[in-house]
Amino acid sequence: MENQKDRGSFSKIGFILAAAGSSIGLGNLWKFPYLTGQNGGGVFVVIYLIIIATIGFTCMLGEMAIGKYTKLNPIGAYKKIASKWKFVGVLGILVPFMIVTYYNIIGGWVLKYIVESVMGHLPGIAGDSENFFTSYVSSGGAPIFFTLLFVIINAIIIQAGVSSGIERASKVLMPTLFALLIVIAIRSVTLPGAGAGLEFYLKPDFSKLTLGTVTAALGQCFFSLSLGMGAMITYGSYLPDSSNIEKDSIVVPLLDTCAALLAGFAILPAVFAFGFEPSAGPGLIFITLPAVFDSMPLGSLWAVIFFILVLFAAITSSVSLIENPTSWLIDSYDMDRKKATWLVCFIAFLIAIPEALSMGIWSGITFPPMAMNFFDEVSYIAESILMPAAGFFMCIVIGHVWGMDNFEKAVTNNGEFPFKSKGFVSVMIKYIAPFAILCIWLNSSGILGLFMK
Ligand code: PHE
Repeated sequence: MENQKDRGSFSKIGFILAAAGSSIGLGNLWKFPYLTGQNGGGVFVVIYLIIIATIGFTCMLGEMAIGKYTKLNPIGAYKKIASKWKFVGVLGILVPFMIVTYYNIIGGWVLKYIVESVMGHLPGIAGDSENFFTSYVSSGGAPIFFTLLFVIINAIIIQAGVSSGIERASKVLMPTLFALLIVIAIRSVTLPGAGAGLEFYLKPDFSKLTLGTVTAALGQCFFSLSLGMGAMITYGSYLPDSSNIEKDSIVVPLLDTCAALLAGFAILPAVFAFGFEPSAGPGLIFITLPAVFDSMPLGSLWAVIFFILVLFAAITSSVSLIENPTSWLIDSYDMDRKKATWLVCFIAFLIAIPEALSMGIWSGITFPPMAMNFFDEVSYIAESILMPAAGFFMCIVIGHVWGMDNFEKAVTNNGEFPFKSKGFVSVMIKYIAPFAILCIWLNSSGILGLFMK
């Protein structure tokens, strides 16, 4: 039985901060700058902004509407609006759960980097910082310990409840994060030699545009806005009826995009100023940046500030990833919030152990279908296959099953608010968004490649 009692709720501003907290995470501070570095700089930024304003906004509104209307976790929500499509809700619980297992490991790396930079031990010179990172992540014991620490911080916040845990933490962490990010961005763009980085970042070179750029930008849009995995359905389910989700689904992507753009300003000019390569990939903040900080006056202070801000961003996101399965256990099994939280965190931690080891002693063990190690395989299946699939089916369910009339009632709260973007959203959600997601899914999952052979 779905239980409607005692689910908890957000205030209007609390919802915006919590939803922004969910969106703004490692996706903004870690992935966005390195994807920009790998995908040609400014041209990636332009494509990304277009996708956020069209598909991102539409899918955000879709998820918030489902959540607010049903007041249930993703599985309960899809059962209510289109019972045959319950599997989309199952994805909404499964995908965030898969993601959080390795998100916690990265959160643990960030904790370790804070400890090392506070003690002034973070190695600087490029070679050393690379050795430090690769030997640390493959070392087994310490990364698992820091993962556990990160999981416990999350559990403490979530078990305290929607308003006194998640909302309260977001109200402190989000404004602090923006303040720190602005300080670091100013430091970075005023470094001598920052100009080359600014040019790379802001001046699009359309000769670098490829299908890969678009695929990367769409995947990043979903990941960064926490879409395609029920996170916004769950948070939307804690919204008061009187909130205007059309506005919220503009404000949240706007805040998320500001954070991503600021992270680019914080990182790319500094990387160029000290003569490093922007295309280092996932190692950009863990390998290149420590070396960058080392070259700066007061470098370890900047490193501490930077990694604390990454930690804040990571926590508010992992909290929302964990909240999805937790809310399902509470709704469907009438489980106590504390019990549900610790259960989800415990299982997520257990799965993180082999994932962490798969970067070290178990790196030789690979899994089908992609023959990658466990960590890479789980992240590939979750982000490249299941997440876009859930986004695609959500558009189909809203546009063609639940229907635009019901969707409109949810958005307008039965006529209380206007639905200014109705025409645009309707075309987007019925046709353009699912078509775009499908093309990109076929490409990024490798399925298109099988047929082209
Ligand atoms: N949006 C988060 C980030 O940018 C990740 C996330 C995805 C969080 C899905 C919640 C749900 O890091």
